[in-house]
Formats: sequence, structure tokens, C-alpha cells
Amino acid sequence: MKRLLAATGNAHKIEEMQAILRGLDITLIPMKEAGISPEIVEDGETFAENALIKARAVCAASGEPALADDSGLVVDALGGKPGVYSSRWMGEDTSYHVKNAELVRLLQDVPDEKRTARFACVMACVFPDGDELTAEGFFEGRIGYEERGENGFGYDPVFFVPEKGCYSAELAPEEKNAISHRGKALRRMYELLEEKMAHEDSHRQ
Ligand code: IMP
Repeated sequence: MKRLLAATGNAHKIEEMQAILRGLDITLIPMKEAGISPEIVEDGETFAENALIKARAVCAASGEPALADDSGLVVDALGGKPGVYSSRWMGEDTSYHVKNAELVRLLQDVPDEKRTARFACVMACVFPDGDELTAEGFFEGRIGYEERGENGFGYDPVFFVPEKGCYSAELAPEEKNAISHRGKALRRMYELLEEKMAHEDSHRQ
């Protein structure tokens, strides 16, 4: 079993990563458990840059392979905002109830067809030999007119999912994982890790 350090302190993300990567010959270890907590400045301009910044920092600090993700909400009518600033938008300590109300207010005159938005996620895996893998996933939807639903987190209550006919916060966790940006990026990363391990095994024989 190979070790892979999860470059996040978010227990919810670690659980989701563990569930999806379960089939691989990998044990996912929260970085804190491995005694790693590097100072990380997420100053990238894209989700991929930020995911790589986090994975590189944890790999460099530990000497072990590291997996990180970066995600956010991209609203077309706001020119892609809040994007990579999703958690910092309106201030880190501002509640999502307030942020969601502001999103609805900013889009108050925007018609249905122009309210398109997506959650984006990039997973990055960095190895001590310098090898880097990235995988992305998107979750398409529209900004709604009010908050609905109790599940999920962040912007889920204002994110309407046309293919389900409800808001993201109204989806059960398994339902959301099956179609979400993070679920898609993780399943793609699963394939990339599987290929890398098969390649390494064939070189060892
Ligand atoms: P990070 O990837 O932990 O930096 O978080 C990015 C931010 O994007 C979160 O704090 C949320 O504001 C937003 N976000 C990312 N994924 C989701 C999601 O699945 N639902 C709701 N908000 C999300």
C-alpha cells in the first residue's frame, strides 16, 4: 500500500477523497496526521495553479507524494467571479448566507438564460521525483433566486442544478458526489493514478 498525503485540513474533503480512491493500492493520510502543516500562500490565478501550489508544498515538506484540490464557483454574468476567490469573496469570515444573498442581488436583473454558472475543481498530485498530475471537473448550473436546501455547504443553496430540477443543497451527498466537480475531478485522478502505478509496475518487472 502506497502513502499519499492529503494536502487539506478539511475532514469532509478527505472523506470524499478516501471514498473515491478506495479501489487503488493507496492509503490517503491527512497531512496533519503525518505531522505536516506547511505555510501555504494560495496566490495562483487559476484553480490548477492553486492546487499545484498546495500539493508541491506538502510534497516538499514531507518528501512523500501529495494530493491537493482547489475549487470555486464561476458565475458567467459576473465575468467568472468569484472564481479562485470563492472562499475569500466578501471576506473569509462573511457567512455564506450573506454571500449567497449578495449573489442573488447582483443577478437580480439577469434573465434565466444568462444566470449560468459552474463549480470547478482541479485535483493535483505531486510526486517526490517531480512528476505532477492534474485532473479537472465541472458541475454546471444556474444561480437561483433564493436559498434552498440544507445539505452541502458554501454556495450550494443558491446553485440550481437543471439536470436534477433542484438546488445543489437539496441533493443527498451521494447524489451530489456523483455529478459534482470534485467527484468528477477525483474519478479522473483515480484513472491517472491507476495508469501511473501500472506504468511503474511494468518498469519494475
Ligand atoms: P477550496 O477549494 O477549499 O479553496 O474552496 C473553494 C470555495 O469554493 C469554497 O470555500 C466554497 O466557497 C466554494 N465551493 C467549492 N466547491 C463547492 C461546493 O461543492 N459547494 C459550494 N461551494 C463550493
